[in-house]
Amino acid sequence: MNDIRTPRLLLRRWQDDDLVPLSEIHADPTVMQWIGDGRPRSLEETAEDIEAWEEEWDEEGFGVFAVELLGSGELAGAVGLYVPDSPPEIADRIAITWRLGRVYWGQGYASEAAHAALEFALQDRGIDRVVAAPRPGDSASANVLEKLGMTMEGAVQDPVHGHDLRLYTIDLTEYEG
Ligand SMILES: CC(C)(COP(=O)(O)OP(=O)(O)OC[C@H]1O[C@@H](n2cnc3c(N)ncnc32)[C@H](O)[C@@H]1OP(=O)(O)O)[C@@H](O)C(=O)NCCC(=O)NCCS
Repeated sequence: MNDIRTPRLLLRRWQDDDLVPLSEIHADPTVMQWIGDGRPRSLEETAEDIEAWEEEWDEEGFGVFAVELLGSGELAGAVGLYVPDSPPEIADRIAITWRLGRVYWGQGYASEAAHAALEFALQDRGIDRVVAAPRPGDSASANVLEKLGMTMEGAVQDPVHGHDLRLYTIDLTEYEG
């Protein structure tokens, strides 16, 4: 995969020196409250995440990007595509996900990176439909989803953590950016 440049960001695969900055993002309870079981993740768990994303890149030809700020080279977070294990309604479909360090919120970076990830999905990988499954209280994600033109399709339950989830979808063949 070639790196993707947006006006302000570099989306690329993961490098060894991303582990510490990503684990600092994962250590922030406010960043993690709507992700998985809602707990911060340790350095070891962060290493497992990066390993899983890199495996997905190798096996599927898509994955979660490391998002770097052009200019400073800081790691702002992780945005990209993955195949969820659950809930069953979206297992084996292709989902979009995002998390940025708190200092990078409110600047449009998540939307900029997610837009580039959707264009990559359609143009580079021929993926025509992408889903997302945020929790109902995650209004920042709902805002990004709406800006991307993703529409709410219904509600599902996360069988692993017992949370309600909202199911969003987009037909990328009609994506206008
Ligand atoms: C979800 C998350 C990535 C959203 O980040 P965000 O910074 O709120 O989203 P955006 O990058 O779209 O930025 C939004 C705001 O930046 C502001 N902004 C500032 N400069 C901007 C610019 N140049 N371009 C666009 N927006 C800009 C806008 O006001 C915009 O808000 P608005 O759309 O309400 O007007 C972030 O809150 C996060 O990491 N949360 C924790 C992880 C998480 O919950 N992940 C989801 C689990 S499924």
